[in-house]
Amino acid sequence: TAVENGSVSWEAPSNIALVKYWGKKENQIPANPSLSFTLKNCKTTTKLNYVKVSEDHQNSEEINFEVVFEGVKKESFKPKIASFFKRILPYCAYLKQFSFEVVSENSFPHSSGIASSASGMSALALCVMSLEKSLFPEMSEDFFYKKASFLARLGSGSAGRSVKGSMVVWGEHKDILLSSDYYGIEYPLKTDAVFKDYQDTVLLVDKGIKQVSSTVGHDLMHGHPFAEARFKQANDHLSELIPAFEKGDIQSFIKIVESEALSLHSMMMSSDPYFLLMKPNTLALIHKIWEKREESGIPVCFTLDAGANVHMLYPAEYKKEILEFVKNELVVYCENGHYICDEVGEGSKML
Ligand code: PMV
Repeated sequence: TAVENGSVSWEAPSNIALVKYWGKKENQIPANPSLSFTLKNCKTTTKLNYVKVSEDHQNSEEINFEVVFEGVKKESFKPKIASFFKRILPYCAYLKQFSFEVVSENSFPHSSGIASSASGMSALALCVMSLEKSLFPEMSEDFFYKKASFLARLGSGSAGRSVKGSMVVWGEHKDILLSSDYYGIEYPLKTDAVFKDYQDTVLLVDKGIKQVSSTVGHDLMHGHPFAEARFKQANDHLSELIPAFEKGDIQSFIKIVESEALSLHSMMMSSDPYFLLMKPNTLALIHKIWEKREESGIPVCFTLDAGANVHMLYPAEYKKEILEFVKNELVVYCENGHYICDEVGEGSKML
């Protein structure tokens, strides 16, 4: 083809799971379906520069690339991206014809305890798909986004939920007919307006790197004594969320979302070896959030990732009151008083 060299750029968001993905089979196939809110402010911007290499410089095993992260050449990021390229190569054979420069930056601080793998892998997968589209211009938009999510998933499971849409389901579920284990889809059912601009204030309890990588965590679900019950619970929770989204039933939403966060952590606490990723301030914040909900009637709740930070979720109409609460009562539990204000966003964007 005529494509020699060029450059493509995408911006992709992070996401926060409401129904958690924890446990996988071969090839990044999830053990249970998961569902997330796409975030708006926490995102990665990636530019992929590509140059065609001559036939005799084409290496069938590996892709040649450099990584520049926030203006600095980063050797330490290369292994993760190298293994991403290796995993997607069987589906993107054309990559061998090029050498690449991956130029990336995050909108959130690198050491904030906010994982950048979802937004980072999604942005890179979308760049790869833009290159593919320039080689195969006839591809449909539907194929473009499904394959982008498919590739992102191979980089990091949850990244498949950061490609398209403001609420995304990944993993087959009996009540969501178009859902797939191979890629995320925009949540296709009716959703009350209250969830369309839901707020997520991330209370940064611990900005250090994760104690347990998610790869290790997923693996510990193999042979976990409660695995099957957990996978069933995730499926049931997703079923129960459907009418809650439809009716704008925030009380049911809260019950399911908080239960999911505590289940995720209880899986880590009951695996072999076991992990405890909550910190004293995580628990203090959970109790403060419960107290606030009890006293004010504001339907604020929490969720957690595989770490100590607390995501506080609430409808947009309470933003002012909740941010006052954060400043007056919660910042003392945050590392250096830091928190991030985010909300449901619209998904990735080509730049
Ligand atoms: O995408 P991974 O493999 O890093 O796994 C993410 C796991 C959780 O963040 C804990 C849950 C989720 O569904 O995002």
